[in-house]
Amino acid sequence: MTTIKSTQSVTPKDNLVLIGNAKSDFLKYGLSEAEAGFVNKQIKQDEHIININQYQRRILIYIAEDKKNENLTLEAFRKAGNKGCGIFNAAKAEEVTIVDLNKNASQTLAFAEGMALGNYQFLHFKKDLKKITHSLNSILIHSKKVSEKEITYLQIVVDATEKARTLVNEPVNYLNAVQLAQEFEKLGKEAGFKVDVFNKAKIEALEMGGLLAVNRGSIDPPTFTIMEYKPKHAVNKKPYLLVGKGVVYDTGGLSLKPTSGMDTMKCDMAGAAAVGCTLYAIAKAGLPVHVIGLVPATDNRPGMNAYVPGDVLTMHNGMTVEMLNADAEGRLILADALSYGKRYNPELAIDLATLTGAAAAAIGKYGIVAMGTADKKEFNELKKSGKRVNERIVEFPMWEEYGDLLKTEIADMKNIGGPVAGAITAGKFLEKFTSYPWIHLDIAGPAFLDSAYDYKPKGGTGVGVRLLFDFLSVIKK
Ligand code: BES
Ligand code: MN
Ligand code: ZN
Repeated sequence: MTTIKSTQSVTPKDNLVLIGNAKSDFLKYGLSEAEAGFVNKQIKQDEHIININQYQRRILIYIAEDKKNENLTLEAFRKAGNKGCGIFNAAKAEEVTIVDLNKNASQTLAFAEGMALGNYQFLHFKKDLKKITHSLNSILIHSKKVSEKEITYLQIVVDATEKARTLVNEPVNYLNAVQLAQEFEKLGKEAGFKVDVFNKAKIEALEMGGLLAVNRGSIDPPTFTIMEYKPKHAVNKKPYLLVGKGVVYDTGGLSLKPTSGMDTMKCDMAGAAAVGCTLYAIAKAGLPVHVIGLVPATDNRPGMNAYVPGDVLTMHNGMTVEMLNADAEGRLILADALSYGKRYNPELAIDLATLTGAAAAAIGKYGIVAMGTADKKEFNELKKSGKRVNERIVEFPMWEEYGDLLKTEIADMKNIGGPVAGAITAGKFLEKFTSYPWIHLDIAGPAFLDSAYDYKPKGGTGVGVRLLFDFLSVIKK
């Protein structure tokens, strides 16, 4: 964890990041005439990150890059913050002060955000911590424009994102459905929101046929977690509902995945992690919004009693589904959660799921595939949040004809579509279980990375937390 705080002072011993421009007075912050001359030369040669290695400390100068718009500029600041993180860690620095010479709060915060997020490490299973642990543990912000509240919010959202990354990175032999629910209970205690966990008997009583069917191949029981944050001063009358896919491991079940597709499938609860950690963040920040989170959780395995292709399932809402591919399990557990969500009469429901390889194939790790029945206004607000935090969303069509691909003579629906539009047919399947404004986010592309890029590490990225925190923090009466 990296702490982020404000500071009033800058001393000649501090490691510094000077966020400035060609006209900034770098001499004032301890650069010699010669160093300042070097910096000016570098700026003229269009360098944006200039690294000065002094005897006692290191000074990094960052000159804003000229991007097409403010959101892209902020993303460049995050990326530069991540580079700075690497440079200071290489120098074994523990603390860095970011000095906001340009008097620009959002850019300074973005730099700190990229620096802190880039500093994340998953060390649970590493023995020799001394050699590998990043030295950087504290970021100080020296700025006349950045407020204490903004720093607190940044710290919260960075922590929540890192908690989501860690939940995703924990393997299923340490994090099964019951343990995932326990993690949510811990988050609720720490941040102050209510957590209820339904066990298998309760899930059976509720006749959640999708969740129970997926769980049949497992020896571990399923869980269904309900999280609620309801502040007295909530601006919304009807709650926002967040639903996260909590497949703690997806082998594909009897429709077994090949090794190369299975080896990252501990990530299949990234939607659930995003939901739990978003609740954590909004509760910690005390946002004035009433939010409910639902997480159906199980692993998907080809055990002795596993559901088989051809099985007909009766779902929580009474609909029947012909299950023709055991690897299309996410939609089955989400369907039960979405129909359960009806009782809350939500203002808007958003589900997050590593649902289809098709979504990842369509847009890669660069964005989130979205679709749904919510009106334009809600979609636009979410798209705006996506641009602000650079977790961009791309809306896919939900034309009626795609629904035809789910038709079967045996039951009300089958759980797979045809060979095309796999992300959309999955969304069409879910739509049948919603009866309120709803947005589906397929995060299969950005949730888990084969290698680090920018301030996102290899493995779990925590995608969704920053997006939803931003979205929920701009809601008004
Ligand atoms: N969890 C997978 C989707 C996935 C793939 C997530 C790659 C992250 C990275 C999901 O349960 C799945 O297996 N989907 C199938 C659906 C198909 C059988 C209709 C897929 O995408 O192949
Ligand atoms: Mn699957
Ligand atoms: Zn899955």
